[in-house]
Amino acid sequence: MQIRVKTPAKLNLSFKILGLRDDGYHDVETVFQSISLEDEVLFNIEKSSGASFEMTCDNPALRKLMPLDQSNLIAKAISAYLGKMKESQNLQIKVQIDKRIPIGAGLAGGSSNAAGALLAINRFFNDRLSEKELIELGASIGSDVPFCIKGGTCIGRGRGEILERIDTSLLLNYCIVKPRKLSVSTPLAFKMFDESNLKPDVPAMENLVEALKNGDLESTLAQLGNSFQDVIFKAHPELDALSKQLIELGAWNCKMTGSGPTLFAIVAGREQGHRIRRHILNDEDIGFVYGTEEIILEALPPIDFRLAETVNHGARIVSME
Ligand code: C5P
Repeated sequence: MQIRVKTPAKLNLSFKILGLRDDGYHDVETVFQSISLEDEVLFNIEKSSGASFEMTCDNPALRKLMPLDQSNLIAKAISAYLGKMKESQNLQIKVQIDKRIPIGAGLAGGSSNAAGALLAINRFFNDRLSEKELIELGASIGSDVPFCIKGGTCIGRGRGEILERIDTSLLLNYCIVKPRKLSVSTPLAFKMFDESNLKPDVPAMENLVEALKNGDLESTLAQLGNSFQDVIFKAHPELDALSKQLIELGAWNCKMTGSGPTLFAIVAGREQGHRIRRHILNDEDIGFVYGTEEIILEALPPIDFRLAETVNHGARIVSME
């Protein structure tokens, strides 16, 4: 059976760290938003005499950045799902991934792929688990996986896995901006936050939720915030400068998503987004600050710059044969 899924990235419109818990995680309050930047993953699943798992990615540049073995979140999701089956399963599973979401970026690309894997394997078993059960299983794989299943606009509490949908009519346009040479590990970002004495001023989430429910653009823009931002900007001042530059170029507001380093700038529409992209990609200073030998050799712009917009769904199956 061949199952194709599309798995959107997420932004944290707001991300507030409340404190460290006894289990090593942090309690957070966040507003998640799914966006139109997405990966496509093709699953070939067949019954077989022995179990096998094989994963391929067409882009050679990404193969170096992304594990394609059992440590990939897709493999973990499938093995968590099969672990819940009463009878043992011998399946031959082939996964082909078309990766568009930047890696190590704070965009939940890996978690979103894991969410897609749960949907695909569940479809193979005739949707044996409900969405609620899949979300519970997703939480055992990663804190962002439940949201990547549910999608849209949601409040996330606990470690991010306790979700509440927000009904909003607000459609936002984003520039998604990631310096290619920077990646941030989430556990390390939490450690840096705990060890810093910075006290970031993140607006109360309730105000953002109200603004979104009322479709109030101005108030929404004023309520964005991220507890990680000060500590990550301190470690990478060039990211702070990039964020200010995006505002100078006309973006309505700009914040970091999750543990970063990706920035999202909210803009009036695609036309303005294209204009800002042209400025950034032609800026020689940026090439100087962010260029690396590898990036120049591969002829890639040093900033990975994407345009995206709000979407109201999470990972989903798009075709089946
Ligand atoms: O849940 P996930 O596996 O994505 O988290 C990766 C790591 O990030 C955790 O092991 C933990 O160190 C940190 N984390 C945290 N608090 C959260 C989410 C993640 O401390 N709410």
